[in-house]
Amino acid sequence: MDRVRVALTGAQETMLATLYGRALDSARPHSVLNDGAAAEAVARLDYDFPGTGLTMTSAVGVAIRAWQLDRWLRGFLAEHPRATVLHLACGLDTRAHRLSPGPDVRWVDVDLPDVVAVREKVLPPPGGDYRLVGASATSPELWESIPDDRPTAVVFEGLSMYLSGAEVEGMVRRAVGRFPSGELMFDVYGTIGIRLQKLVPPVRRAGAVLRWGLDDPTGPEAWGLKLVESVRSTEMPMLDRLPLAGRVQLRIVGLIPRLRDAGRAVRYRFPA
Ligand SMILES: C[S@@+](CC[C@H](N)C(=O)[O-])C[C@H]1O[C@@H](n2cnc3c(N)ncnc32)[C@H](O)[C@@H]1O
Repeated sequence: MDRVRVALTGAQETMLATLYGRALDSARPHSVLNDGAAAEAVARLDYDFPGTGLTMTSAVGVAIRAWQLDRWLRGFLAEHPRATVLHLACGLDTRAHRLSPGPDVRWVDVDLPDVVAVREKVLPPPGGDYRLVGASATSPELWESIPDDRPTAVVFEGLSMYLSGAEVEGMVRRAVGRFPSGELMFDVYGTIGIRLQKLVPPVRRAGAVLRWGLDDPTGPEAWGLKLVESVRSTEMPMLDRLPLAGRVQLRIVGLIPRLRDAGRAVRYRFPA
């Protein structure tokens, strides 16, 4: 089969680096995610993946971040077997494949139309009540198209930093205003991470620009949420799976107050 050529730039291109991270992780003996479908998608694409500059440490780091959000989402679905999952900025992430949600879960994957076009070519749909939508996560029409009859988990990974604070707030207010109850789970950069963005090779290479950073995880409570959990990237479970160099690096970063807040995963519920 011919490989699919991809010519994306900016934030859209960065989803190839995170895909590659999960694929590299899947080939390790003690893989965090075991995301074999990511490796298969990489094999189907004609793209210079090593050119992303991803190291094995950052690859496993991507897998750990995904694992953390998967864990929270599994917890939510265990409590709410009849629910909607709105997975924004899905890129080529196989979260729905990994979680195999039950028959009463309505799952909506969303990304920008050019990314969805690639996804349709390289990833088989996971089955069940699943829909893939090409739209901006910030578009009011998208939110209005999602049924509002069930508890809803809104999950997004690698998105908040590409938006403005006002756009993130707008999404949160739409979720809180539309669904009867639910959770938001996502990752954020701290403002130090935004300032140091030129040090992130895949972002630099794609010519993407990082915009919104969050230092105080309770900040979004002002938008109608209640913070449930916040985990720094330097303190996530599974960090023992990093290569030795990465473990040493993280130990040092964890000792420097400003740097240890460079990234985290956050989980909120609503109504507050
Ligand atoms: C770093 S990638 C993360 C992709 C995926 N979540 C993952 O972890 O592999 C960033 C993603 O955000 C998407 N994105 C950026 N702006 C967006 C928007 N306004 N609406 C929807 N998706 C957006 C990009 O297209 C890209 O797929």
